[in-house]
Amino acid sequence: MFRSCCYSRLLRHKETLIRTRRNLILGIETSCDDTGAAVIDLSGRLLGESLSTQLSTRFGGVIPTFAMVFHTDKIQGVVEEALKQADVTMEDVSVIAVTNRPGLKGPLIIGTDYAKYLCTKYNKPLIPIHHMAAHALTVRMEQDVKFPFLFLLISGGHCILGIAKDIDNFTLLGEGLDGSPGEMLDKAARNLKLHSLPNMRDISGGLAVETLAKKAVNPIKFTVPLHNERNCNFSFSGYKGHLHLVLRRLEKNRELPFDSQSVIPEASDVCAGLQYAVSKHLCERLQRGIEFTEYKELMSVGSTLVVSGGVASNQFIRGSISRVCESLGWKAVFPNPKLCTDNGIMIAWAGYEFWRSERGIIQPQDVFQVPVIPKCPIGNNISQEVTQANLKCKWVSME
Ligand code: KG4
Ligand code: ZN
Repeated sequence: MFRSCCYSRLLRHKETLIRTRRNLILGIETSCDDTGAAVIDLSGRLLGESLSTQLSTRFGGVIPTFAMVFHTDKIQGVVEEALKQADVTMEDVSVIAVTNRPGLKGPLIIGTDYAKYLCTKYNKPLIPIHHMAAHALTVRMEQDVKFPFLFLLISGGHCILGIAKDIDNFTLLGEGLDGSPGEMLDKAARNLKLHSLPNMRDISGGLAVETLAKKAVNPIKFTVPLHNERNCNFSFSGYKGHLHLVLRRLEKNRELPFDSQSVIPEASDVCAGLQYAVSKHLCERLQRGIEFTEYKELMSVGSTLVVSGGVASNQFIRGSISRVCESLGWKAVFPNPKLCTDNGIMIAWAGYEFWRSERGIIQPQDVFQVPVIPKCPIGNNISQEVTQANLKCKWVSME
C-alpha cells in the first residue's frame, strides 16, 4: 500500500515535471549585431541562454551585410546552445518570440525567418516583438515595476525617452535627432585609438571610454547640446565635431602626425569630459520629461524611471541619472548590466509578457504573414506637445 502510494505520488510528480517542461518560451534576437537566444519558463525564470556578439564597434560600426552573414552563421548554434543549457528540446517549447522590428533589415530577416521555420517545423505559435519595447520591459523580469513608468533607452542604435503604459502601449516624449550616445562613444573611442591599449581590444567603445575616464586628471569641457531647446529630444553630432577639433589641437601640441597610432596622454581627460557632457545632456532632457509628465498629470512624483540599453551599463551615467531622479522625488531603476545590452533574454521575457496576457500570439499556420519592419515607431509621438508646453527647467545637480 505504502509503496504503491509513493509510486503514484512519484508518477504525479513526474507528470507535473513533464507538464512544466512543456511550457517554455524561446526568445530570438538578431536586430543588430548580436545573435541571441534564451529559454524561460512560464513563471519568467531563465533556464538557458546563448549570445554571440560581433566586435563591430572597433571596425567602424555595424556593416549590415557582414552582420547578416554573421547571424546566418550563428543563429542555429545559438538557439541550440540556449536549449541545451536549459536541458530541453524544441518539443518542450510552447511559443517562440522573435524581434521583427525595428532594426537592420537583413539581420531582422535572418532571425525572423529562422523563428518562422521552427514554428512551422514544430507547430508552435509566434510572438513578434518590438526591440525597443523589449528593452523597456526587461526590468520587470527582475524588479516589480508597475505601469505606467517612464523609460530612457540609451544604446548604440537608439536614444528614446517615453512612457510605458502597458506591454503594448508606449508614448514617445523625445528621441535622438542625429545618432545615439553609444554610437558617439564608439566613434570617440576609435578616434582616440583606445582599442590599441592593453585589455581594450575587445571591449565596446563605450566601456573603453568609461574605463579611461576613471584615470582623468583634468577633464576637458564639452558643450551640452540643445541646452536651451525646450523639448526632450537628443543630439549627438555636435560632440563629433567638437571632439575632432580637440583631438587635432592636442595632437598638434604633441607634434604627433595626423594618422599616428599612439594614444594621446590626454585621452583620459577627453573621455571624462565626453562622459560628463553626455550624462549632463541625458539628465537635462530627462528632467524636462519628468516635469512634463507631472505638468500634464500623466505621471506623478514618486514614479519610476527605467533606464536600459547598452549605455545604461555605464556607472557614471547611472549615478548621474539616479541623483537627478532622487532630487525630483522619482526612483531610477536599471536592469542588471548584462540585460541592458542586446540579448535573447529580453525577447523571451517580452514574449512571456504577451503570452501571459494572451496578446500578440500568431498561430503556426499564419506565421509567414508576419513582416519584418526595419523602421517602426515605439508608439504615439507627443514630442510636439512637449515643445508646446515650453517648460523652463531649473536644473537639479547630477553630482
Ligand atoms: O543595447 P546595445 O547592446 O546595442 C544596441 O546598440 O542596440 O548597446 C551597445 C552600445 C555600444 O554603443 C556600446 O559602446 C555602449 O552600448 N556601451 C557603453 C558601455 N557599455 C556598452 N556605453 C557607455 N558605457 C559603457 N560601460
Ligand atoms: Zn538594443
